[in-house]
Amino acid sequence: MAIQKNKVLLGVTGGIAAYKTPDLVRKLIAKNTEVRAVLTASAEHFVSPLALQAVSGNPVSNDLLDPAAEAAMGHIELAKWADTILIAPATANFIAKLAHGMADDLLSTLCLASSAEVFISPAMNQQMWKAEATQANLAILAKRGATIIPPDSGEQACGDVGQGRMPEPQDLADIITQPKPLQYLAGKKIVITAGPTREAIDPVRYISNHSSGKMGYALANAAIAMGAEVTLVSGPVNIAAPNHAKVVKVESALQMHDAVMENIDSADIFIGCAAVADYRPLEAVNQKIKKNNQELTLTFTKNPDILADVAKQQRSVFTVGFAAETQDVSRYAKDKLQRKQLDMIAANDVSNSDIGFNSEQNALTVFWKEGEKSLEVADKRQLAFNLMQLVSERYKNKHATQ
Ligand code: PMT
Repeated sequence: MAIQKNKVLLGVTGGIAAYKTPDLVRKLIAKNTEVRAVLTASAEHFVSPLALQAVSGNPVSNDLLDPAAEAAMGHIELAKWADTILIAPATANFIAKLAHGMADDLLSTLCLASSAEVFISPAMNQQMWKAEATQANLAILAKRGATIIPPDSGEQACGDVGQGRMPEPQDLADIITQPKPLQYLAGKKIVITAGPTREAIDPVRYISNHSSGKMGYALANAAIAMGAEVTLVSGPVNIAAPNHAKVVKVESALQMHDAVMENIDSADIFIGCAAVADYRPLEAVNQKIKKNNQELTLTFTKNPDILADVAKQQRSVFTVGFAAETQDVSRYAKDKLQRKQLDMIAANDVSNSDIGFNSEQNALTVFWKEGEKSLEVADKRQLAFNLMQLVSERYKNKHATQ
């Protein structure tokens, strides 16, 4: 029996990343998908309809009032044909139009006339991405059920550096064709820590680490997609807050500890993904330290262990730790699992710079008392889904056997 193909309507709007869409179509087709592309007028400045027609094998639509196109497959028919709509790249202007229900061209009309699942891949200048208006419009769309695929950070076509780049075509194809996350965690309350902490030395200096927050934020997004109510306690990072999460921003380990303890009482699950500084300077002096001496000696004192405190004080909370190690990864991880009395631990080999700290990808080996599972190298967003699925299975198992 032939396997039913996903029917993806790819909406291309007028951003520089549109030049990547023929490749995106090819990647989608490789994932057993039939693609029909629809371009806005400005998208045609960046990618030709003919190129998209050639790679998709389907006619490309761009005009609401084209009698020939309407005779072939009318716009309402096209809206009903799609089971998924992916807008990539989605400009700030198009996002604003969608948020306010406008239907003044073919693509916006199709979005309004369709009941398909909608994915939006915003791509724009980093300042436009950060703009309050853009974020408010995205929040409206997310509330209506659209999935917002956060843009990547990096150098932009305009020369700026920051968040706003469309993810790579392969990543987009993976995200929109992954099996719909089941609501494994419906109604569960999850507290997640993410990112680094900063420990002040004086008013202008601190010690910290290379955590970008990507892994923890991906976990928060995956948990939300699986139906959980998420509180994300985050150290200083440069990533957009997940839609629908309560985000508590902190700087130091002590602040992170307080924020977690304030939010943990009603939680079902705690995940410690943050790279919390183990030590802080004993005294953070009030004035900038002067370079009067050849040597400078700082005395450090131990920070509270947030994960261990949650596991000790909140026995009903299912606790998941991470272990970032550069050697003897499994041994140290298993030791932390036992010593901190955790339910699970995800061992992260951070000696490999392609995974772990501040990378796009990661790989984990997860241990619990009776077993272990390797989660192979994958984009952090994908890996987060795999880990959250495992967490939900072990959580259910623990409660079934209690
Ligand atoms: O943020 P990214 O750039 O995406 O990178 C992700 C990551 C590498 C930071 C992440 O995958 C990871 O491994 N996080 C744990 C980092 C860490 O601090 O590991 P650790 O082995 O030092 O700590 C063990 C566990 O105790 C961790 O769950 C940590 O959050 C927790 N801990 C540690 C110290 C402390 N004072 N309080 C804690 O809660």
